[in-house]
Amino acid sequence: MRDFPKVELHLHLEGAAPPAFIRGLAREKNMDISGVFDEHGNYAFKDFWHFLKVYEAATSTLQTAEDYHRLTLAVLEESAAHGVIYTESFLSPDFCGGRDVGAWREYLHAIRDAADQAEKSHGIIMRGVVTCIRHFGPEKAKETALCAAETAGDWLTGFGIAGDETAGKPKDFAYSFDMAREAGLRLTAHAGEWGGPQSVRDALNDLGVERIGHGVRVAEDPALVEELAEKEVVLEVCPGSNVALGVYPNWRAHPIGMLFDKGVKVTVSTDDPPFFHTTMTDEYDRLSDTFDWDDGVFKTLNTIAANAAFCDEKTRANVLERLEKTDD
Ligand code: ADE
Ligand code: ZN
Repeated sequence: MRDFPKVELHLHLEGAAPPAFIRGLAREKNMDISGVFDEHGNYAFKDFWHFLKVYEAATSTLQTAEDYHRLTLAVLEESAAHGVIYTESFLSPDFCGGRDVGAWREYLHAIRDAADQAEKSHGIIMRGVVTCIRHFGPEKAKETALCAAETAGDWLTGFGIAGDETAGKPKDFAYSFDMAREAGLRLTAHAGEWGGPQSVRDALNDLGVERIGHGVRVAEDPALVEELAEKEVVLEVCPGSNVALGVYPNWRAHPIGMLFDKGVKVTVSTDDPPFFHTTMTDEYDRLSDTFDWDDGVFKTLNTIAANAAFCDEKTRANVLERLEKTDD
């Protein structure tokens, strides 16, 4: 499936950093981040909450706009090598300049510059979605939303929330989502990964998002599954991430097959690929093995993703045209 054209809607930029890249930065800056890796040099964590700590420790090596320029190039090169033609990446002003709008502009400029370079050299299109971090709390989220609102446009196109889904409630972040919406940003929220079906209801009702990051736990509530299908809510499903973090014990137990069969608009992404030992090619291979999905199904999922992308219509038409050329 490596060369199959893919649209990815859920990728955390720092979470896509290859371990060797982070080790290189740590060496350059004389930082000791040995706790981040196992004896094989892979990211090491024991559960989701430990994962968030390791993620933040690895991210502490990214300290300048130039570091993010290099990171973006490395990430997009890897995504393009797995057939990704359009990617939406979660960007965090918390890590990029400590939520200072001026500093954030510099980081964003560097990330965009790298994205332009990667589009020229590898044909991959990137758009940015700012995410606030739930366990940093609602006050910091307001500062993050201001960074997003000040830089909203044809490249920075969305706003969302990531982090510890068990911390606080979606409505605590309603002010930030209102600010982002008023700035013209499109909205998504992580929910239904560690929270049950109610967490998805809350994100939809209290934040007014049009997409849900993960959302797979709706599978526990058949009425909600039906409602999502009817309302055409798009789920950014990351099956390999869910299995790696233990939301489901194995691929067979993952509800993406059932959700697709029930008519829910599901899409496929990697979340934080090197952390979960996955790539977009691996995700497609595992889905094909587990649910017997053929190229036609994958083309359908990519068309759903392209139609749900937070980009302008010209870019969408370009992406859809490239998908249309896929043989099935
Ligand atoms: N940040 C990076 N990956 C995440 C995930 N899977 N859930 C919540 N926050 C995250
Ligand atoms: Zn995520």
